[in-house]
Amino acid sequence: MAADPFHLAWFTPFKTPAWKSPWAADTPFTWLNGEYYMDMARSLERAGFDFMMFEDSTLVSDTYGGTTENDLKHGLHSPKGDPVPLLPMLAQVTEHMGFIATMSTSFYSPFILARVMATMDHLTKGRVGWNVVTSSEDLAGKNYGLDHLLQHDERYEMADEFISVVKALWDSWEPGAIVADRETGYLADHTKVHPIHHEGKYFKVRGPLNLPSGPQGHPVICQAGGSPKGRDFASRHANVLLSAPKGVDQMREYRDDIRARAVEHGRDADDVKVMYIVQPVLGETQADADEIARRRNELTQDQIETILGIMSITTEVDFKQFDLDAPLPDDVTTNGHQSGLEQFRKRTQGKTIREALMGQQTEAVELVGTPASVAAQMDEVMEAVGGDGFLIRGEPVRTHSRRYIDEIASGLAPELRKRGLIRSDYPESTFKANLAAF
Ligand SMILES: Cc1cc2nc3c(=O)[nH]c(=O)nc-3n(C[C@H](O)[C@H](O)[C@H](O)COP(=O)(O)O)c2cc1C
Repeated sequence: MAADPFHLAWFTPFKTPAWKSPWAADTPFTWLNGEYYMDMARSLERAGFDFMMFEDSTLVSDTYGGTTENDLKHGLHSPKGDPVPLLPMLAQVTEHMGFIATMSTSFYSPFILARVMATMDHLTKGRVGWNVVTSSEDLAGKNYGLDHLLQHDERYEMADEFISVVKALWDSWEPGAIVADRETGYLADHTKVHPIHHEGKYFKVRGPLNLPSGPQGHPVICQAGGSPKGRDFASRHANVLLSAPKGVDQMREYRDDIRARAVEHGRDADDVKVMYIVQPVLGETQADADEIARRRNELTQDQIETILGIMSITTEVDFKQFDLDAPLPDDVTTNGHQSGLEQFRKRTQGKTIREALMGQQTEAVELVGTPASVAAQMDEVMEAVGGDGFLIRGEPVRTHSRRYIDEIASGLAPELRKRGLIRSDYPESTFKANLAAF
């Protein structure tokens, strides 16, 4: 029996594609002009993807070893472009797919964010979404006049107020407020545009927004909370959730938990789509794919510096200080990505850090094979989990390349479609409606 159709999306930073790949061409120098990403958007829409999601962060980190060397040497969190201006460019070269940008509730003001999102929703005719993050790094906070971020759980409380202000601003123009009536001489009807007079614990915003909301009303809300507080926040607000639980059982547990929480918040569980990160390894034969996977999983010095560098950035714990051949000390804590650190701690139980890195699996399930066999594996996994889809992530060191994108778009996606597992058209006019369609 086959799984029901599921959603397919791509997760990426607006960052240098895999510059060490022999298929990188000139992209290490030209990616910031957006053309690589425009090509990618065209390919993914042709393949039937639902959306592209751009993660983001705004720092050059010196946490690893007390220097920016590792971050810049490997291009980990920088250089990175702001995905917001990229989104309308991607919408211009496509017709249906959705595009999500990450913006932080710790650094934006609710008014600016509501205005930017509403404007982009108009510019793209209803095809944008906002990935709501609270950010994890004090170092980023220092770029915005903050010495420290709020404590982890309080960041979510602030995000909760932030999002309610943003929604109130999007609702501050009643439908039909623009009348453009030459007879009466009114462009907009002021009786349909209302201030919000918000005064809360963190924000004071008068409103109204100075433009009406776009075709989606409230653009798609995306979230990736993993901690209890984060899950609660996500299940209350998000239309789509990004997650990286490990293995089918954890995937199912995460989805069931999010859906139950959504119902507790008075929502329909089907209004929240849960997407799981995968990095399929594709070959013309199983043996080819196994060999590519073996090479990809080799623990080189570059890989160690990359994995521990990223852990250091997102937890603000200097992982260079630890002995690789000893376990992770018990007293390591973070005010950053708590669930990231917890997952790493679980992996290191009874192991040295090096051993844990060798078993490092950043994706929900490992998918290695021919396009047809990987499509079959995805079918089985979705059937076992219950839905809602996969978030493909090109492995950043080697496979974020036009070649890999084509392997997915021209190899895997057609196999998935043959099985009726992904969409073959976009019947609705907005991203949100297409997402809600199944
Ligand atoms: C797939 C995925 C994408 C994420 N994207 C971002 C991002 O772009 N920017 C960011 O600051 N955090 C990002 N995060 C971190 C989450 O927002 C969240 O902080 C993290 O999953 C830890 O959960 P917690 O905050 O509930 O502890 C992402 C997490 C996941 C799993």
